[in-house]
Amino acid sequence: MRMKQPLVYVSRKEHFNAAHKLYNPNWTEEKNKEVFGPCANVNWHGHNFELVVTVKGIPDPDTGFVVDLKRLSQLIKERVVNKLDHKNINMDVDFMEGKMASCEILVVEIWKILEAGLPEITEAKMHCIKLVETRNNYVEYYGE
Ligand code: NI
Repeated sequence: MRMKQPLVYVSRKEHFNAAHKLYNPNWTEEKNKEVFGPCANVNWHGHNFELVVTVKGIPDPDTGFVVDLKRLSQLIKERVVNKLDHKNINMDVDFMEGKMASCEILVVEIWKILEAGLPEITEAKMHCIKLVETRNNYVEYYGE
């Protein structure tokens, strides 16, 4: 009988600083303030974001790795972090154009980019992206 292959989850953490505001242009300033509070501040505010990307796969028998973490880090930096770091998410980031600059929307867009790029570096599959905005708030996305 063949041994069951172990499925292992591997995570890489990256950081970026970015500005944004939560603001729905279809609403009045009053309503924006009511719904988004200080996050609607017209002149922006910033966060030190933490991005944790988790992939899953079977360890390669030759390397023992599910994924080469150096290459995963490179992929995340080149496709995602470099586009966000020290940028204004509402104004500077091509893949967020015309979208609400919330963590929920951002994490889904990041997923799409990394899911498309991952097969270039590994047979592992995307499992989860966690995006930490503040000490108290973070979102997770599992591709559903
Ligand atoms: Ni914010």
